[in-house]
Amino acid sequence: MADFNTIRIEREGRRATVIVSRPDKLNALNDETIGELRAAFEALAGDDDVRGLVITGEGEKAFVAGADIGELAKMGSIDGIDVSRKGQETFRLLEHMGKPVVAAVNGYALGGGLELALACHLRVASEKARFGLPEVKLGIIPGYGGTVRLPRIVGRGRALELILTGEMVGAERAYEMGLVNKVVPPEETRSAAEALLDTILKNGPIALRFALEAVDRSLETGVEEGLGLEAHLFGLLASTDDMREGMNAFLEKREADFRGE
Ligand code: COA
Repeated sequence: MADFNTIRIEREGRRATVIVSRPDKLNALNDETIGELRAAFEALAGDDDVRGLVITGEGEKAFVAGADIGELAKMGSIDGIDVSRKGQETFRLLEHMGKPVVAAVNGYALGGGLELALACHLRVASEKARFGLPEVKLGIIPGYGGTVRLPRIVGRGRALELILTGEMVGAERAYEMGLVNKVVPPEETRSAAEALLDTILKNGPIALRFALEAVDRSLETGVEEGLGLEAHLFGLLASTDDMREGMNAFLEKREADFRGE
């Protein structure tokens, strides 16, 4: 994989941890970072040795404190559309990679940072994490999918509370809202996210991919379409070696050895 300036990737076993790394700017997403995340997600999506991702921020203070306001301040309206689209497409790649992605929210997750966490499938938060969509305080709205994903995750009323006030909430309130799956002590954030991902990765990779697809497509379409797709994916899984292995392992009282075939 290419060398990056603003992100780092660490690999262990079947998981890759992507670290947004601009600590002097609280890991704010500038154009270069979005480009590097996109390149990384494309490469990791196509890498069969990687079965799942953790996304986190460098240092103890921030996950990602938003899009880079210094850059945003210079945009005109057409650039604005491009900036938004580029971020949206990058996060969409992550969401639709077909591999589970867990955010380890180690500190501030604001604006584009919260939107990055929302594009992950699950979120583990430090007790010190702070969440918010402060865009309206800057005279803009969330542009990396926040208005679309947040209401789907926490419901319209709670989403509008964050989007319209621009105020931050702490980890406990985020947990109550269903915004995060788990809250842990700060020093355990990354390891807890990695442990959660490792638990997931013990399962059949094709089943994981289809489960993500079934849930997302039904939310994006409707009940009938969702049920139809679920039935077809369910049937398709019956043709995999992984299904035979999973069921045989249960019957033989042993751990399954899934190969993704
Ligand atoms: N874009 C660009 N730079 C940012 C940034 C962002 N979104 N968030 C933080 N930074 C920079 C600060 O400008 C500062 O840089 P400097 O040392 O060169 O001046 C550095 O990161 C540290 O931030 P600072 O504001 O000094 O830390 P703090 O502890 O006082 O406050 C925050 C932390 C998160 C409350 C504050 O940085 C903040 O409100 N950031 C902007 C959040 C935001 O509006 N995000 C949405 C953007 S659409």
